[in-house]
Amino acid sequence: MRLLGALAFAACLQGAGSEWAGSRACAACHAEIYQSYMQRPMAVSSGPAGTGLLQESFERAEFTHGRSGFRYRVLREGSQYFFEVEGAAGGRRIRVRRPMPYFIGSGIVARSYVFSLDGFLYQAPVAYYTGPRSWDLPPGYDQYPTPYLTRRILPGCLSCHASGPQLVTRTQNRYRTPPFLEGGVSCERCHGPGAAHIKKMTAGDLEGGPAIVNPARLAPDRRDSVCAQCHLTGAERVARAGRELDTFIAGEPLADYLTVFVRSGGAPGMRVTSHLEKLAQSACKRASGNRLWCGSCHDPHSVPKPSEKARWFRAKCLECHEASACREEPARRRANGDDCTGCHMPRSTVMDADHVVFTDHSIPRRPGLAAPPTPPPDAPLVRFDGAAASPRDLGIAYASLAGRERVAAYQQRAFDLLREAVAAGARDPQALLHLAELYKNRGDEKSAIPLYEEAMRLDPDQVGASVALGAIQADRGQWKEAIRLFNDALFKNPALPGVRTALAMALLQIGEREAARAALEKALEFDPAYTPAYQLLQQLRREP
Ligand code: HEC
Ligand code: HEC
Ligand code: HEC
Ligand code: HEC
Ligand code: HEC
Ligand code: HEC
Ligand code: HEC
Repeated sequence: MRLLGALAFAACLQGAGSEWAGSRACAACHAEIYQSYMQRPMAVSSGPAGTGLLQESFERAEFTHGRSGFRYRVLREGSQYFFEVEGAAGGRRIRVRRPMPYFIGSGIVARSYVFSLDGFLYQAPVAYYTGPRSWDLPPGYDQYPTPYLTRRILPGCLSCHASGPQLVTRTQNRYRTPPFLEGGVSCERCHGPGAAHIKKMTAGDLEGGPAIVNPARLAPDRRDSVCAQCHLTGAERVARAGRELDTFIAGEPLADYLTVFVRSGGAPGMRVTSHLEKLAQSACKRASGNRLWCGSCHDPHSVPKPSEKARWFRAKCLECHEASACREEPARRRANGDDCTGCHMPRSTVMDADHVVFTDHSIPRRPGLAAPPTPPPDAPLVRFDGAAASPRDLGIAYASLAGRERVAAYQQRAFDLLREAVAAGARDPQALLHLAELYKNRGDEKSAIPLYEEAMRLDPDQVGASVALGAIQADRGQWKEAIRLFNDALFKNPALPGVRTALAMALLQIGEREAARAALEKALEFDPAYTPAYQLLQQLRREP
């Protein structure tokens, strides 16, 4: 079940006045490409649990997280997958069981899962590892002292791993069912909307071209943008003012949608570094410029069989190199079947956070040789494409990186740049929100408030300003206003146990005990180990 209802897809997109057709529609005339493409991992990178290129084993489906002692279990009942977590926190037993209706990641190395609560989607705290055929915490989850159940599935996640995310407007992670129209990268993610092409081809009208994007014929920056929309992550991606990445269409330059920043001094090691970054470091790319791109080595619609890989990639190298250019002794090359990539594109098995680059795309002379030195954690950010960055984009990049990595130098740079940008007239919600947050962190509420208020007016989807202003109103004893702001935030992102607890406290102030109790119970439904909500609820239960 790769296509979640081709008919419904066409119908709802027509309703939206768009020109997408869905991959199924291409099969009628491009059957061979369709069949071959659908066999590769990228085409089936997400979908209903139990489908896809891989069938999970449930033999090792139980594990204990050493630090917290929580026990995890994954089970299948009929076609449904569930996870269970059990353990103790704050002196009480906690037990959660939820269905996980979708997977993300075809499972070359690993697979993540998605669960839903009130229609909002979250990443499940269990992942399947294909090599060992066993279940464990997802990468990065080990650091949390209690089960992490509130990691939202944001549209960005689905726009790389699926096509046509069905986000409910004004929310951050609530989706219709199914949450995406196709599980995986659809034909049109690389070729652009196809309805006009189909109409023209059906009519046999070849005049003026086929009316569809062929990436190989695009100008180099537009061509590279096709793969970069998903394969270039950098240290930070910043959406341009007024733009959303999810609306990028193949054929356009990605730089119109977002700016990608990397740390100057090269990308750190093999961890979480994207294929485009690594390739850009290679001598091959630096010396051949636009001639070399992802499509020089990869067929867009198929992957070579394991037995054919060495020969397939060697042929690609030999389009530019004479076999005799290699300095290795011929006998040693013969010994490994003259597998150029086996020696020059070695594999590692690093998996960090969610992301992986296994094959070293920096094409070193010897493994490890071409790897640039690891830049210091506070290295300046530069645009990946080498162009000058606007203070607004660079400021946002530093601010969000500082939020994640807590680098003081980044905070300061973010503050200086965003102040400059806003003073010069930048009036988009992202810039305003980040600057407001930076003021708040410095204890300067007075400067933060008007920025939050403006961000809220400009962007009805934001959550940060509602939470921050709600807290300020609560501090001032403006309970009704605080309640309104907290509810606004929770409507868009309900999994904020701290905000629910603050909401409960404000409700108690105006005598709404039942509503306060309900807010606390809801907080614990999202995060059962959240102690402040539990304690307040106990207190409420004790005092009649
Ligand atoms: C009714 C038949 C038909 C359908 C359906 C169809 N195509 Fe085509 N397609 C054609 C024909 C015929 C050509 C060759 C046109 C030519 O040679 O000028 C073509 C050419 C192409 C090309 C090459 C364009 C170029 O400039 O090199 C691409 C890419 C393509 N199709 C993609 C798609 C995609 C994606 C879909 C589904 C959204 C699709 N096609 C659906 C008939 C079809
Ligand atoms: C819409 C997002 C998206 C686009 C566009 C995209 N990719 Fe991917 N690609 C992915 C994802 C996600 C995976 C991981 C699939 C998995 O295992 O779940 C992937 C995996 C791959 C793989 C390894 C697995 C496989 O199927 O072979 C290769 C190679 C690859 N992509 C090359 C490319 C190239 C070349 C382009 C541009 C012509 C491209 N991709 C465009 C998202 C994308
Ligand atoms: C910018 C695009 C992008 C975003 C956003 C993204 N991914 Fe990925 N993901 C990829 C690509 C591309 C790969 C393939 C390997 C690589 O290049 O890192 C991948 C690989 C994976 C894999 C391993 C797949 C396999 O076959 O082994 C998992 C699991 C995964 N991603 C989960 C997620 C989850 C969950 C999210 C959101 C919470 C997410 N990813 C967000 C692009 C993305
Ligand atoms: C990951 C990006 C990507 C996806 C997904 C993709 N294509 Fe392509 N497609 C390309 C690229 C790149 C080329 C140009 C290949 C070349 O000429 O080097 C191409 C070329 C084509 C062509 C014309 C040349 C040929 O090989 O006949 C057709 C037709 C086509 N694609 C149809 C499809 C269909 C149908 C699907 C979905 C089943 C699809 N493509 C999915 C990237 C993609
Ligand atoms: C589009 C052309 C092109 C392709 C395809 C290509 N290379 Fe290169 N490569 C070059 C150029 C140009 C240089 C720099 C001049 C030189 O050393 O020959 C280079 C340099 C190298 C170097 C020297 C690296 C260094 O740091 O000095 C190695 C090793 C190499 N290539 C291996 C490969 C392998 C293996 C493949 C196939 C997987 C490959 N190349 C594919 C163009 C290419
Ligand atoms: C010089 C040849 C070459 C070029 C150019 C190239 N790749 Fe690869 N790529 C490979 C080889 C070889 C593998 C390993 C294939 C395997 O073992 O199945 C690979 C594997 C991958 C994988 C699977 C995950 C991994 O790291 O093993 C992805 C994703 C990928 N490439 C994406 C890209 C993207 C995106 C580009 C363009 C920026 C690109 N590649 C350019 C040769 C190349
Ligand atoms: C058994 C491992 C092995 C295989 C297989 C192999 N190489 Fe090499 N290659 C090396 C080593 C080792 C060097 C020398 C590195 C050094 O001395 O710095 C080298 C050097 C090179 C260089 C740089 C030459 C220079 O000017 O300094 C190129 C280009 C190259 N190889 C291309 C290839 C190509 C193309 C293939 C496949 C046809 C290939 N290699 C197969 C190990 C290998």
